[in-house]
Amino acid sequence: MPPFTVQDFLKKKREGQKITMLTAYDFPFARIVDEAGIDAILVGDSVGMVVQGLENTLPVTMEEMLYHTRLVSRAVKSAMVIGDMPFMSYQTSLEEAVRNGGRFLKEAGASAVKIEGGSEIAEHVRVMTRSDIPVMAHIGLTPQAIHRMGGYRVQGRDEETARRLIEDAHILEDAGAFSIVLEAIPMELAKRITEELTIPTIGIGAGPHCDGQVLVLHDVLGLFERFIPKFVKRYANLKEEALKAIRDYKEEVEKGIFPAKEHSFR
Ligand code: KIV
Repeated sequence: MPPFTVQDFLKKKREGQKITMLTAYDFPFARIVDEAGIDAILVGDSVGMVVQGLENTLPVTMEEMLYHTRLVSRAVKSAMVIGDMPFMSYQTSLEEAVRNGGRFLKEAGASAVKIEGGSEIAEHVRVMTRSDIPVMAHIGLTPQAIHRMGGYRVQGRDEETARRLIEDAHILEDAGAFSIVLEAIPMELAKRITEELTIPTIGIGAGPHCDGQVLVLHDVLGLFERFIPKFVKRYANLKEEALKAIRDYKEEVEKGIFPAKEHSFR
């Protein structure tokens, strides 16, 4: 399969085909996601929670994100790799946004970056896009704003915030974002935004009407159990499988069953 690009995001929307996206953070899982034919891999700052065991995504650093993006880029043959810009790597200034956004493309093999926020980051989207750094926007529940939002809550349920989210989506499209993640918003609001924009919407907890969907890989595979949001569907329970395999190994070593002759040298 040829590499999936920003142009393919737009083409899929025009042709009414759904865009598939998952997160990944390392070589083996990125290989699997790529082999499965997923269109785009987001190296999300969710790495902080599902891999590093942090309470939220705020402490994740640029260097960590570049490291994980490199591992993923190395594994991928056709999926588009999108690097998630961590907290305070773009909010501080337009210059920082361009410099750090550029590092994802220059040093880590990403083809695009994602940043969180509404109209307040429109200028960041504009300057990065002008510098040939394709930007995916992210509105609704934006985990980097957890302290302002007071928790991981559905956004846009009242008229005023719904109106602001619609306005933000248009402003971000006008600023040059090639796509926009809608996280944890009512499905009718996501439908309206999806219909009004020419760029594709990628939903996570935003219902079935978005142009594509994204989930955190560790949620999909049953590898993260601290909490399971309502919008997650588990397609496997790899934790149980891993537990069984490791317990079997332990038992076989203890009983002298492993290693057998076929695992030993003469
Ligand atoms: O960090 C992440 O994984 C994300 C997705 C949940 C959209 O931002």
